[in-house]
Amino acid sequence: MDNSLSPWRFCVAPMMDWTDRHCRFFHRQLSRHARLYTEMVTTGALIHGDVPRHLDFDPAEHPLALQLGGSEPDDLARCARLAERWGYDEVNLNCGCPSERVQRGAFGACLMAEPALVRDCVKAMADAVAIPVTVKHRIGIDRVDSYDFVRDFVGTVADGGAAVFIVHARSAWLKGLSPKENREVPPLRYGFAARLKADFPRLTIVLNGGLADVAAVDAALAQVDGVMVGRHAYHEPWFLAEVDRRWFADAQAAPAREAVVAAMRDYAARALAAGAPLRAVTRHLLGLFQGLPGARAWRRTLSDSGALAAGDADLILAAAAQVRAPRLAA
Ligand SMILES: Cc1cc2nc3c(=O)[nH]c(=O)nc-3n(C[C@H](O)[C@H](O)[C@H](O)COP(=O)(O)O)c2cc1C
Repeated sequence: MDNSLSPWRFCVAPMMDWTDRHCRFFHRQLSRHARLYTEMVTTGALIHGDVPRHLDFDPAEHPLALQLGGSEPDDLARCARLAERWGYDEVNLNCGCPSERVQRGAFGACLMAEPALVRDCVKAMADAVAIPVTVKHRIGIDRVDSYDFVRDFVGTVADGGAAVFIVHARSAWLKGLSPKENREVPPLRYGFAARLKADFPRLTIVLNGGLADVAAVDAALAQVDGVMVGRHAYHEPWFLAEVDRRWFADAQAAPAREAVVAAMRDYAARALAAGAPLRAVTRHLLGLFQGLPGARAWRRTLSDSGALAAGDADLILAAAAQVRAPRLAA
């Protein structure tokens, strides 16, 4: 691998209910270098809840970032310390989530209206830990669609000690759109991320939003330091098998689907022994054969409630056996 490449060159986005530890272990079988992010964990959940349940992960998941939701500097510093102690490689602050529940807690995207507070949050976290403190944000909130807004936000927050900004390159419309619509309706403006890189050459700028093929990632990497891919990586995970060779100059061959299936069978057996239902693992695997003729049989077998209830990890092998052999080796 080329060590001059940014560790943020290719990231898989934090996604609630999706990028749990089982999903991340699966993604790690497909790429050794992609940087993985947890689902958002709120400071309240960590301070008052079951810390191991929220923070435990498999050592294979590195490099791994914990995403926090919160807006109280002392709480965030405390949670950043927990993240560091647990072995995370990075702690990321969510300034991009538009959900109403999150707005009531006064964090997520609405924090973009308070750059000085975000700077103080970042400073408290950066003072508390040695791992990088990074920020994931939008380019604006509501109908504010001016580059100056996001430039001033990044400039202020960088003063707190964040050097990596993950830019979901659309505004968050806090009123009137559901979180799902907020990932689709506000227009993408990749040019804003490129301008941030030009205006802040020393910061690491990572572009996120709507990237769904090799050409789009290549085009982004010509302008910024890294990309973050969310939905496409989840729905078509085989895309991740390209990442190491193509974007990290790692000559090691991409894994074979067969090897990934075998690794996930063994992982599922361990997860079952630890008390997880089989579905908790298999639900993330449904896209593995996406676009291939056996895809439907694979999905159907892995979603069969009766078979899942039997709790036998070999179901994953049985599902793969239905995808014809030459395609499995592809
Ligand atoms: C199901 C789902 C859950 C998400 N949860 C989070 C989250 O917890 N934290 C966050 O910063 N963004 C979250 N996002 C937004 C993604 O991280 C990403 O910014 C967005 O999907 C745009 O990237 P994409 O077009 O590559 O999917 C979520 C997105 C989806 C689809």
